[in-house]
Order: sequence, then C-alpha cells, then structure tokens
Amino acid sequence: DRPRPLVAGNWKMNGLKSSAKVLGEIQAGYTPGLKAKVDLAVCPPATLLGMFALMAVGSRIAVGGQDCHAKELGAYTGDLSAEMLADAGATYVLVGHSERRQYHGEKDKDVCDKALAAHRAGLTAIVCIGETREEREAGRTLAVVKKQLRGSVPADSTAQNLVIAYEPVWAIGTGLTPTTADVAEVHGVIREELRRLVGKAEYAKVRILYGGSVKPSNAAELMAVENVDGALVGGASLVASDFLAIAGGY
Ligand code: G3H
Repeated sequence: DRPRPLVAGNWKMNGLKSSAKVLGEIQAGYTPGLKAKVDLAVCPPATLLGMFALMAVGSRIAVGGQDCHAKELGAYTGDLSAEMLADAGATYVLVGHSERRQYHGEKDKDVCDKALAAHRAGLTAIVCIGETREEREAGRTLAVVKKQLRGSVPADSTAQNLVIAYEPVWAIGTGLTPTTADVAEVHGVIREELRRLVGKAEYAKVRILYGGSVKPSNAAELMAVENVDGALVGGASLVASDFLAIAGGY
C-alpha cells in the first residue's frame, strides 16, 4: 500500500495579492477525479498565507509556510513561529529547504529544531534534504542524504507529522533531473533510514517527495518510481495549468 501522494508547490519569493487568481485556477482544476488520487498543498510567501488559507477553506487544498523559527514567540525580528503559521491557516511548513541551508546557514540541528516546532504547533513538517553537485560527483550522495536525515528528523516524527522532500541541489531550477534509477536508489535508502528513525509501524507510510525541475513533461515518469510519493514543485507551481498537470501525473 503506497501512501496517498502529495504534490506541494513552493512559491519561494514569488507572488503578490494578484496571484490569488493562480490559487483560484488551481482550486477550479482540482477536480473530483484529481482529489480522489492526490493531495495538493501550496506554500506561498508568508504575506499571502492568511489570504490563501481563507480562500482554500472547503477546497481540500492545504496551505503551508516555507520556513519557521524554532521558538514559539519572542524577540526575533523578522521571524515567524510555527504557531503563527498554524494560526494563519497553514497545515504544512517546509523546513531545511536547500535555499535556507545555503543562504541562511541552516544546519541539520536547526532543521530538526524547526521540525520539532512545527510538530509542537500541530503542523506537518516537510523536511528537505539533498546533495550538491560536488557531493554527487564525489559519490557521496547516499552518505549525505543519510546524514541529513539522521540530523534533521526529530524523534517525535510520525507518518502524519513528517514528509520528506528529496531535492538534489543541482536539480533545483536547472532543468536537470536525476535518472529514475538514481531517484529510486535514493528514495529506497531514505525509506530504509526512516525505518530506523520513525519505527517499523510508521516508516512505510511517510511520504517521500521528489523535488528539482519537476515539470508536466517529466512528472509521470518521476512519480512512477518506487518510493516516490509525490513532488515538491518550485517554478512550475506558479502556473496553475502546469501544477495541475503535474498532479495529474498520478
Ligand atoms: O522546493 C522546490 C524546489 O526547490 C524545486 O524547484 O521545481 O523550480 O526546480 P524547481
């Protein structure tokens, strides 16, 4: 029994109030047929989170944050807590996206603390991991992914409050994707590692998403791979028809 797939859109630092029309188009295209086979989530910039959550009420489209602080509240200018995201209507939050790791110096321990904060607030943490081009070329992909998982996944994780997103850094926004054999290998290793981290009863139900240049043209092929339980989509999630076509790949 494969977990119910999830296709999540990460809008990154894109989107203004006028982008509500894109969410409207996604809602309109989330047909009963699509609803029957795949969950959808949209992670807009925080400025749009509350509005999107209100718009999405009743549509079964989930809304998520792109990052959160580990603490519940306090003197952390510019930051947002998981509780604030939940209060705004989010049910998911991305943690440890490679752009946070790269541009904000986040380490596995920080990511783990953020995932714990997400759980404390009742959110599902989408923990992002993935190797750089140098790491892949050095043959270290599997070791890197295992280390990131061990360091970033908190001990209280379950199939309900944890999603893993495997995103090779070199595949993000580049149009490059690993071969399906490579994706199968990494996702298989992630599944085995999850057995140790979340336990025998839950590990098979944790959704493992693939991310990195997912497009309508490659989605079906990538999502047919064993242990790929959905996609984390960047650029293509900004265009409703592309996002829906990717979700339709299931
Ligand atoms: O979170 C999403 C990823 O970073 C993938 O981005 O689909 O634009 O390559 P992309």
